[in-house]
Amino acid sequence: RMPSLEACYNLMDFEAVARQVMKKTAWAYYSSGADDEITMRENHAAFHKIWFRPRILVDVEHIDMSTTMLGTKCSIPFYVTATALGKLGHPEGEVVLTRASHQHDVIQMIPTLASCSFDEILDAKQGDQVQWLQLYVNKDREITRKIVEHAEKRGCKGLFITVDAPQLGRREKDMRSKFSDPGSNVQSGGDNIDRSQGAARAISSFIDPALSWKDIPWFKSITNMPIVLKGVQCVEDVLRAVEAGCDGVVLSNHGGRQLETARSGIEVLAEVMPALRERGWEKRIEIFVDGGVRRATDIIKALCLGATGIGIGRPFLYAMSAYGLDGVDRAMQLLKDEMEMNMRLIGATSIAELNPSLIDTRGLLGG
Ligand code: FNR
Repeated sequence: RMPSLEACYNLMDFEAVARQVMKKTAWAYYSSGADDEITMRENHAAFHKIWFRPRILVDVEHIDMSTTMLGTKCSIPFYVTATALGKLGHPEGEVVLTRASHQHDVIQMIPTLASCSFDEILDAKQGDQVQWLQLYVNKDREITRKIVEHAEKRGCKGLFITVDAPQLGRREKDMRSKFSDPGSNVQSGGDNIDRSQGAARAISSFIDPALSWKDIPWFKSITNMPIVLKGVQCVEDVLRAVEAGCDGVVLSNHGGRQLETARSGIEVLAEVMPALRERGWEKRIEIFVDGGVRRATDIIKALCLGATGIGIGRPFLYAMSAYGLDGVDRAMQLLKDEMEMNMRLIGATSIAELNPSLIDTRGLLGG
């Protein structure tokens, strides 16, 4: 029997319910990682190598969790990252995430491979809600140009170009499940879909493996949205992104779905921030991180290291698949409650107060 929503006390609880209630093919697509799923597991485990150094006797009666990402305000420094094929989990798809994001004043990243059309997701936006666009770059650049221009015209506030997927990783669970119906209106895929290799591979054949640093000026020429590279995995490429004039990077390994035994985003963050500070570049670029974030303590650790924003993927998909809008609403509220409590226990009253002296990273950096 399905547990009630009130019995979910943390993000892992939603995963357990989703696993029970989701269709096998949908579960396989959402939950899978590349190869042996070592990176996928490490994404979460890496957070456990960081410990807190809380400060006592700080007046923590009032906690302000609000922050600014790419120039727009939001209630809390996590965002809903782009995850394809929302209708595998819920008949209404990505717009469920849009509504929950609005309720919580959280930013949503719209995936190129959404099940809903872009306009459905853009139309679901309420008030001054903020959305970003995740872009898979098509071999046909005119298709890409149209998507970008349309997103900007419809008010998207950031362009996240995925750079870790020139070819889709092998997610064997997904491949085995022989996905047959993406339930989707996939927007850039073309019609001759090969369904024998799992959902991911079926929908991604249009992605341009020739995309390179040389293309960045073109993106800057076609949009005024801030440009963020999603899937950067070492300090050298972060420095190069600064030099190329990018506004941000997401330190991410695509939720462990691409290169197996890639490092966790949080470990890369620990490598990146000192190098930026050494050069005085930490204000020139915003550093986002995703992968394995399941607790507010994970979020706080990334913020202490210097991240601007933290992306969360699967947990919101699972909450949506299990309980629809109410599930995502509760998942976000649980995170907010955890975050407020833990900031109090650490002795920080605002996001700006989170800094490296509040964490011990020896376990992460030492081995
Ligand atoms: C993703 N991710 C992803 N990223 C992207 O740039 N474009 C995409 O279409 C997708 N699709 C996608 C589908 C599913 C089912 C998952 C789980 C992930 C990667 C995503 O944006 C993010 O990097 C990870 O999901 C973060 O890890 P967690 O939070 O899922 O552990």
